[in-house]
Amino acid sequence: MKKITIAFDGYSSCGKSTMAKELAARVGYTFVDTGAMYRAVTLMALRANLFDGEGKVDEDALRKLLATVTVTQKYNPELGQAETFLNGENVEGEIRNMEVSDRVSIIAALPFVRTEMVRQQQAMGEQGGIVMDGRDIGTTVFPNAEMKIFVTALPQVRAQRRYLELKGKGEDVTIEEVLRNLEERDYIDSHREVSPLRQADDAVVLDNTNLTRAEQSAMLFALYNERIKD
Ligand code: DC
Repeated sequence: MKKITIAFDGYSSCGKSTMAKELAARVGYTFVDTGAMYRAVTLMALRANLFDGEGKVDEDALRKLLATVTVTQKYNPELGQAETFLNGENVEGEIRNMEVSDRVSIIAALPFVRTEMVRQQQAMGEQGGIVMDGRDIGTTVFPNAEMKIFVTALPQVRAQRRYLELKGKGEDVTIEEVLRNLEERDYIDSHREVSPLRQADDAVVLDNTNLTRAEQSAMLFALYNERIKD
């Protein structure tokens, strides 16, 4: 059967990863969370103390560090999902905290970081049979993807979902902080010079503010079945 490329893009915390992961498992494709790759680079920059007091990053030092880094994702059968590794170390837990979330859009806006991440992402998807989730997948990484989904939901709904997720992991956050972080990231992600977050012309928009997971899965699976026939 034809193996296609499936691109998921959209705003922060609208459940893209969950949907993309579920579809990948259902159709037997590899899932790649590209946000996790930018988060892993951000964690590396934080550990190396590359941010100054105003949140600006030492770009020369980061460029050197980036040359030594590999970010990989490996499927953990016990968890039933992929985990992110930074130079072989499992950093899945650390890359989701607020410290990384607060800085990741700054790192993801740097052209040399994007060039390297996009290169690694294109290499992962060379053979098709991939579901990739991010902000520029349908526009820059795989502009010829056969199936493109642009996911969105009301900011308050997204903040509430993310807040519950962080609380569930024991993080001490308020819903206001989470909402502010989402809105800030969406702003930076949509206004940066290199590959800003935007809907590809041929993407199907999925607003999941009022949709259940089952409804979303059904829509996505139906679309997948249509696209593999084309
Ligand atoms: O999907 P996420 O929230 O884990 O992504 C983290 C950040 O990385 C987000 O603020 C935007 C950025 N990102 C990006 O610029 N390009 C991608 N392909 C994926 C994520």
